[in-house]
Amino acid sequence: MIFDRKSRMAMPQHTVADTGLTAEALAAAHKHASHDRIDFWADLARHELCWSTPFTIAHSWEPPFARWFEDGRLNASEQCLDVHLKTGLGRKVAVVWEGEPVDAEGAPTQRRTLTFDELHELVERFAAGLTSRGIGKGDRVVVYMPLVPEVLVAMLACARIGATHSVVFAGFSAESLRDRVLDAGAKAIVTADGGFRRGKVVPLHENVRKVRAQIPAVETVVVLNRVGSSKGGPASSAPLHQGEVGFHELLGTARAAAVPVGAEHPLFILYTSGTTGKPKGVVHSTAGYLLWAKKSMAWVFDPRPEDVFWCTADVGWITGHTYVCYGPLANGTTVFLYEGAPDFPNGGRFWDIIEREKITVFYTAPTAIRSFMRQGNTLPDSRNLASLRLLGSVGEPINPEAWHWYADVIGKGRCPLVDTWWQTETGGIMMTVLPAMGSAKPGCATRPLPGIEVDVVSDDGTSVPKGADGKLVVKSSWPSQLRTVHGDPTRYANTYWGTFSGPGGTSKEPWYFTGDGAHRDEDGDIWITGRVDDVMNVAGHRLGTMEVESALVGHSDVAEAAVVGVPDAIKGTSVFAFVTLMKASKGRAEDESQRMRLETELRDAVAREIGSFAKPEHFRFTDALPKTRSGKIMRRLLRDVATGHEALGDTSTLEDVSVLSALQHYHED
Ligand code: WT7
Repeated sequence: MIFDRKSRMAMPQHTVADTGLTAEALAAAHKHASHDRIDFWADLARHELCWSTPFTIAHSWEPPFARWFEDGRLNASEQCLDVHLKTGLGRKVAVVWEGEPVDAEGAPTQRRTLTFDELHELVERFAAGLTSRGIGKGDRVVVYMPLVPEVLVAMLACARIGATHSVVFAGFSAESLRDRVLDAGAKAIVTADGGFRRGKVVPLHENVRKVRAQIPAVETVVVLNRVGSSKGGPASSAPLHQGEVGFHELLGTARAAAVPVGAEHPLFILYTSGTTGKPKGVVHSTAGYLLWAKKSMAWVFDPRPEDVFWCTADVGWITGHTYVCYGPLANGTTVFLYEGAPDFPNGGRFWDIIEREKITVFYTAPTAIRSFMRQGNTLPDSRNLASLRLLGSVGEPINPEAWHWYADVIGKGRCPLVDTWWQTETGGIMMTVLPAMGSAKPGCATRPLPGIEVDVVSDDGTSVPKGADGKLVVKSSWPSQLRTVHGDPTRYANTYWGTFSGPGGTSKEPWYFTGDGAHRDEDGDIWITGRVDDVMNVAGHRLGTMEVESALVGHSDVAEAAVVGVPDAIKGTSVFAFVTLMKASKGRAEDESQRMRLETELRDAVAREIGSFAKPEHFRFTDALPKTRSGKIMRRLLRDVATGHEALGDTSTLEDVSVLSALQHYHED
């Protein structure tokens, strides 16, 4: 993907309403933050959040452990629901939902809306139901559900009683679910009999049952009857076992009031891939996280009373936590939810939805944009997209070609396009271009939001000059930063705060290392160049090379595996696996049909261990893997080989790439 760092596009200007940032407000906020950062955040927290006990201590910092507003008390579900009932928004629609199934003509058959009153009632009743099963403050609840309104009910009900939720994306396999449930020490799981994806049923409840015997600490499994009821089936699609209860059975008449929790109380744990070992449980706080979910949403998307906001991410990812659940609801914004695949029953589904639901703000990922772009303009051009006023992109760098297509074909040149850089760990958007800046450079993450102090530094921590590349760091704590890695504070300290601390390591303050490379251009604007660690970004899904390798090595024919990401025109990155077979199995790579079968088995192994989205696209069977003298796999070399292979086409079968390790220019790293 080619990035032209010179091109600049005028940002369509629309009047920034009271929540968004005008150029003056943006300058004033930056000024306040640079003058007194803690006071800036404290001021925001006092004004934006509804406290049952106001805080007096704004910030404490025992590097690398941060606490924000720690003696204050509040409740996140109250901020998303009760607050709006008090200001007369009870009858406003909070959630509009469309299910995936369509009729014979291809028209959607399922749509529901919930007002803030209705959502509030469901949350209170479900929270009371959880309480009746002995779940309360300090417990962990895993949520493994399709994208239906009940997933928001489950999350907010946990927040209401002070239980920490951990949402596991419904695309994860039973094994992945088990690992997360065990690591989180969850006491309950909220799931559904299934969800719809491309016309097929994703067997969520079945996955839970597969691993149930291995997760003995789970006392309760709540099962929503999603698929059974949509097919006109019985109240429960399968008879429930002991320890299982129907979602609607749990909704009694009792209602749970919001339990105020300390500002630092963990609102949720969200698992994300790292460079080594198992995925880590990123822990987010209640007040700091909520503050930024609310305020970053307001500053970047400028929510207005009549908006229908659609962030296409699943709630199983951080984007869904912050801009499907907490951000929109904390702002009293109507949020739209779509359960299924973008290409079902055809590639026009998203544009149909925008027309029908009059979506005003649309926030999606470059990988989706590129796949729509490939299908041509006929589908979007045949729909009325006039309701749109603002477009957003998230998840990976957006290549200029996709940027222009998105801005022109979807935004018709009328809508500003915000390219938002952030991470699971940052809780909310950290960098973006804003309409108030007047113009945008396609593909450029541009500048941090007020209060966020980022820098691009060389390996010794020196700020790089304009025109140079380096690594992206955040130089001071911010309220929505992750607090720790669940159960592993050392991993937290080492992964994020152990690499950089001032120029030449001189600063007393450790800096937060993002894992991303970046370029500072001649104007001082920042471009993200991609991960510099062993994390891949496949179709917007974060994946560790080690996770895939360990799934491959689990196959009995595999001796060793090394995985790298290679550029992919649609997915941004696709997975390329180098595999060394056991001596006795080598023949399997030599025969074409056997090799195909082996590749299928290996892909299945990855789907089973992680999820289908993680399947390698390409395989290369080799006699040995190139290693440094200290035994480290030379990934940079493999990446080059894999990228070259892309250009050459998949011609070779068995190749000894180890000979390449002798090449002079690959030093030990
Ligand atoms: C990684 C974080 C919270 C966003 C969803 C993914 C990459 C994210 C951008 C962007 C360039 C981006 C980075 C980052 N990334 N947004 N606008 N431009 N790169 O969250 O799974 O935690 O992944 O996604 O590499 O480190 P995540």
